[in-house]
Amino acid sequence: MIKVFPSIFAADFGCLADEAKRIEDAGADGIHVDIMDWHFVPNLTFGPKALAAINRSTDLFLDVHIMVYNPYDLVERLIEMGADRITFHFEATENVEETLKYIQKCGIQVGLAFNPETSYEMAPKFLGKCDLMLFMTVHPGFGGQSFIKKVMTKVKNLKSDAKKAQIQKPLEIQVDGGINDQTAKIACQSGANVLVVGTHLFKQPDLTKGIENLKKCLKDHK
Ligand code: DX5
Ligand code: ZN
Repeated sequence: MIKVFPSIFAADFGCLADEAKRIEDAGADGIHVDIMDWHFVPNLTFGPKALAAINRSTDLFLDVHIMVYNPYDLVERLIEMGADRITFHFEATENVEETLKYIQKCGIQVGLAFNPETSYEMAPKFLGKCDLMLFMTVHPGFGGQSFIKKVMTKVKNLKSDAKKAQIQKPLEIQVDGGINDQTAKIACQSGANVLVVGTHLFKQPDLTKGIENLKKCLKDHK
């Protein structure tokens, strides 16, 4: 089952609460919320208060992707504001294991993200220690970039290593950046099952049709 998470980063910032509702009404599986700190990536987006406003206007699962240094320090506040999963970057902390354990202990899902240039060798040791692994298919920080196809080698490797490892917890494999009807197919064929989609969906007048078409492309392909 492929899940589609629209990225609210690509929505209209002038009416975030309405946009969250529109995402819910369009049949999305959750909302992807990108939090950026101006240091780990050269951009700034939402803080806890904006996350709380999004949370108030929807019952959807809030998939919070934090592109910040020292992710540990932000966890508690984001959970208070409604995060259902926090995905932080492998490259953003020296305390990956500790941060993974802490988020899990807080009772929500945890994801671990990898930049496009980070070696795959860093990933397998975290199998069984997180709910999701995110392979960035663009350089984090901005929407509207082109999908980096070579990241699919890592997705394929992880899919196969996860199978071999027979981990108890089912692992979700997420891709984020440059996803459209064509690249979604490539990502799912490679083993991804959670698609973050920003620009491609929000440039369409009808979000419901956009999500339907994306899912249809994936079905047609099978
Ligand atoms: C980029 C963000 C993405 C972004 C994807 O750093 O993590 O979630 O919104 O946007 P598109 O789909 O426009 O590439
Ligand atoms: Zn993201």
